[in-house]
Amino acid sequence: FADITNKEDNKIRNLLDDADKLLSDGNIEEANKKFDSLLMKYPSSPRANYGKAYSLDLLSEKKQSNTLLEASISAYSKILDLDDVPSVLLLKAGLRLSNRQEFRGWSIKSVVTMKKLIQKFPDKLALRNKLGIGYMMSGKIEEAREVFKGILLKDPNDGCALVHYGFILKTTDRNPNESISYLQKGIASNDPETQHGRFYFHLGDALYRVNRMEEGMKVYEEGAKKNIFLSKWQRSLYNVDRLTGRPWWTLEQTGVAKQLDHIAKNWKTIRDEAVSQMNTNSNLFEKEDEDLTDTGEWHQLTLFQRGKEVSKNCKRTPKTCALFSEFSAATTCKRGQIKFSIMKPGVHVHPHTGPTNCRLRAHLGLIIPEGPKIRVQDSIRGWKEGDWIVFDDSFEHEVWQNGTSLRMVLIVDFWHPELTLNEKKVLSPI
Ligand code: LMR
Ligand code: MN
Repeated sequence: FADITNKEDNKIRNLLDDADKLLSDGNIEEANKKFDSLLMKYPSSPRANYGKAYSLDLLSEKKQSNTLLEASISAYSKILDLDDVPSVLLLKAGLRLSNRQEFRGWSIKSVVTMKKLIQKFPDKLALRNKLGIGYMMSGKIEEAREVFKGILLKDPNDGCALVHYGFILKTTDRNPNESISYLQKGIASNDPETQHGRFYFHLGDALYRVNRMEEGMKVYEEGAKKNIFLSKWQRSLYNVDRLTGRPWWTLEQTGVAKQLDHIAKNWKTIRDEAVSQMNTNSNLFEKEDEDLTDTGEWHQLTLFQRGKEVSKNCKRTPKTCALFSEFSAATTCKRGQIKFSIMKPGVHVHPHTGPTNCRLRAHLGLIIPEGPKIRVQDSIRGWKEGDWIVFDDSFEHEVWQNGTSLRMVLIVDFWHPELTLNEKKVLSPI
């Protein structure tokens, strides 16, 4: 305890050690009382303040109580303003404070704490990385960018800063070319902060986009080997691991063939509703905006998403939405959408993978000229009017609209048939 005990605390060291012993023996309530009574006499004791914060922290976890969590947060934050706090203790308190603020949903406060800590420890780049990550989590990408840039000026080989800076170049700037060397160097550092799916995902994708396909596939193979991806082809990041994965599915395999048949029988009604909206209200259809389109114009009109009806759109295509009344695997699919997808001739969609293996994706052909094709993993198919194709979009897929007129399909995501009721209830929406 030498490095956490200042001169004043050394005078009451036995008392502090006794209270700490209670904590390590699991007598949290008793320890908390003891620290409280120590604080009456020694209000600016760093160790007593820390002991109080930590015991409240443990209690809040044990009792799952936000009131206790908030009490522990305020106890930790006092430590940052005390004089003569040994640096080991100061750092521990500050890091845990920031962590608990984040956990409480107070991202901004957590960022402020990290900034304060950086002022006290300007040379610790790990703190700056945490600040950058905090900014990213609160959507402050430009602030994050400056932090990571600053770290790289001090240490051009900092793995964590490299992958995050590369990630910003790839996803915010949409500049695959620039992002590659940062992501590559960062991942190669093997720093645990760099071994996350999103960095492998975007490095592979960046390489694909500058036509370095083989190198991209190497990254995916590496990710699969490290269990970051389900396989080199199946690269969704929000997964339930045991689910059967295959690129193409037959209707029978889906478990919802009856529901799909019912929809398909009505394909002309569905097509006509979409066409009439296209003619009267073409700005209802929104441009694809996930940076998937390489060339051409791709628009979508969403009827259900994240398990909820988009009522302003269903009002426009009521018959189509009503056809889904008996298809709850689709309408309650919190990890998918039901949407019209229109591609003009000339569209090329980059090879990509969806976010989750928890859904299957069916396409119903509505207006299908000669030409358009879709590749899933390594086999290429086309569409037919009134027919379904079903695939798992967590596998790499790519689309070419090489026709001479527009192509329209209805995309229907539905729950993977092997998910349990409870999983479908508790899985986070995507
Ligand atoms: C996709 O899901 O990425 C595409 O297949 C969509 C489409 O309209 O073909
Ligand atoms: Mn897709």
